Amino acid sequence: MAFFASVNGEIAPADQARVSVLDNGFTFGDGVYETLRTYGGRPFHLDRHLDRLRASARMLGIVIPAADDALAVDLDRLLERAANPESYIRIIVSRGVGEISYRFDRIKGPTIVMAARAYEPFAEAQYRDGIPVIISSVRRNSPQALDPAMKSCNLINNILAVREAQAKKAAEPLMLNERGDVAEGASANVFIVSEGALLTPPLSDGILPGVTRALVLERARDLGIEAREQSVRGRTLLGADEAFITSTLKEVMPIATVDGQPVGGGKPGPVTKKLMQAYRDYARSR
Ligand code: PDD
Repeated sequence: MAFFASVNGEIAPADQARVSVLDNGFTFGDGVYETLRTYGGRPFHLDRHLDRLRASARMLGIVIPAADDALAVDLDRLLERAANPESYIRIIVSRGVGEISYRFDRIKGPTIVMAARAYEPFAEAQYRDGIPVIISSVRRNSPQALDPAMKSCNLINNILAVREAQAKKAAEPLMLNERGDVAEGASANVFIVSEGALLTPPLSDGILPGVTRALVLERARDLGIEAREQSVRGRTLLGADEAFITSTLKEVMPIATVDGQPVGGGKPGPVTKKLMQAYRDYARSR
């Protein structure tokens, strides 16, 4: 499995690529990132991911000097070098090399890391049977404290929730927001089907604007499925007819149980299956 990384455009085997110990990404988690994957060897919706990367960077006042075209060229070079049939891609932009201090004015410019390794698909059984999730005791960061709309390298909130899920043998923790409504997973957005409609929490509930989430909403509208962005109470989730999570890596992944209780029939429902297929068809046709 070929795993390569570039640091400011310089490509090396990932385990030999180096970033300074004084990099603010390391000392403060002061950076932003994107996770992408390829279909047919090409990065899927690089446009939307770069838009979100720039939006995240703006929130931190990190300037990305390279234009989208230049970043795309760098990524193509990396993918060519890695030569995997399909790749998992991570793009990280940190504020740059600092002095372990808040003297941001002394930092000369960002560190841009791109990493690509072979994409490892999830087990088909997870799509066929659905996954167990938990409602985590860890609340999603409050937008007033650390806005989940920013895909920052500060992933401690997510890590705490994932550790709890792993201890309970669940595939994903779902996190509630401060109001107690369902926000999102640690690395995925959440949808439910209730009374014939597809519902997903609105961005104002404190979530990442997922690329997959937006694409699934678009597919639902194409298919004539009634879809609404609407807050989802914890008990609405438990009483839902169907539920699933979405992410770049997981696509549309059905939820079988929440805290051990079956959702709907405990099996992927008809709307979930339709969207799972529609999303796959869309991604593979691009
Ligand atoms: N995670 N919510 C959170 C907190 C996420 O970290 C992610 C993505 C999503 C789904 O976003 P998208 O559909 O754009 O992938 C929602 C990626 C996969 C990651 O962290 O690696």
